[in-house]
Amino acid sequence: MHADIVVLPGDGIGPEITVAAVEVLKKIAARFGHEFHFSEHDIGGIAIDRHGEPLPGATLEACRQADAVLLGAVGGPKWSDPNAKVRPEQGLLAIRKALGLFANLRPVRTHPAAIHASPIKPELLAGVDFVVVRELTGGIYFGDKSRDADSASDLCRYTVVEIERVLRSAFQLARQRRRRLTSVDKANVLETSRLWRDIATRIGREEFPDVELEHQLVDSMAMHLIAKPRAYDVIVTENMFGDILTDEASMLAGSLGLLPSASLGGQGKVGIYEPIHGSAPDIAGKGIANPYATVLSAALLLRHSLGLDAEAAHIEAAVSAVLDAGVLTADLARDGAVSTTQATEALLRQLG
Ligand code: IPM
Ligand code: MG
Repeated sequence: MHADIVVLPGDGIGPEITVAAVEVLKKIAARFGHEFHFSEHDIGGIAIDRHGEPLPGATLEACRQADAVLLGAVGGPKWSDPNAKVRPEQGLLAIRKALGLFANLRPVRTHPAAIHASPIKPELLAGVDFVVVRELTGGIYFGDKSRDADSASDLCRYTVVEIERVLRSAFQLARQRRRRLTSVDKANVLETSRLWRDIATRIGREEFPDVELEHQLVDSMAMHLIAKPRAYDVIVTENMFGDILTDEASMLAGSLGLLPSASLGGQGKVGIYEPIHGSAPDIAGKGIANPYATVLSAALLLRHSLGLDAEAAHIEAAVSAVLDAGVLTADLARDGAVSTTQATEALLRQLG
């Protein structure tokens, strides 16, 4: 098949890790007889420097025309002045919103070779396998903001349609997996959460009676995620709760450097694939970043945007194999850490 893939390396370690994922995709293309065409565009801090805005029109237009988008990370100290008018993160939020990517899938799986890197007891971790579906284009991230001399405000607002569509995506995903959905909210305090809970209950009863639905409050969910992570299959939640819970969940996997994500809209919408970690400015340019989360994001790209399941599985198996073989970057290794390039070369060899 032919596919146009837009690559947005972004800032910090973004360029290093997207290079690795592109090499993996090129290898897959050669091996399975596909033609992938890559074009690079600016987003985040680098786009502010070069074009004066974090999401240039040309970048957005290229993404709209593409079959899929692979993104590195945005942000860094250079652009972090709290009073700055434009920030790299605005580019990321704007592109998610502009492309209508309301469902952010963040799969969390433990891998035997990475369990030692987790601060959590190993006996709790074996066999953890769940997906967080994070609402990505609504809530407090996108509500009206204001600031004056003695107060500030961020509005959290959700419409019925916004809640329904992401819940339906999560129910559908649960149906393809172990048919268990945990809906996370703060319904004992927040009105948006009470609406969320009502809609989840209704959709579950009317449309997905075969999926077992459970409600959890976000604070107790934060505890359960560590205490019994194996109990979960699909977890669905609003934007900010999902942001926080997935960083927490990354510690189950052993490193933020192992968690990929897929941001999806409805039918016919282009998807964005990116690691859940940030731009890691402290290690940028040193060649030691973990490329696996971005490579696993490329696998999600093949599966969700291009329908190439076997190719996606081939990449996932290769990542598992190199982890098993002890090809571990500094975030995972006890000693003998490999560089980003060495990890990538091991992957390419493994891919055959
Ligand atoms: C994420 C990140 C972003 C978010 C930031 C960089 C704006 O933390 O993708 O989880 O909060 O959504
Ligand atoms: Mg985050």
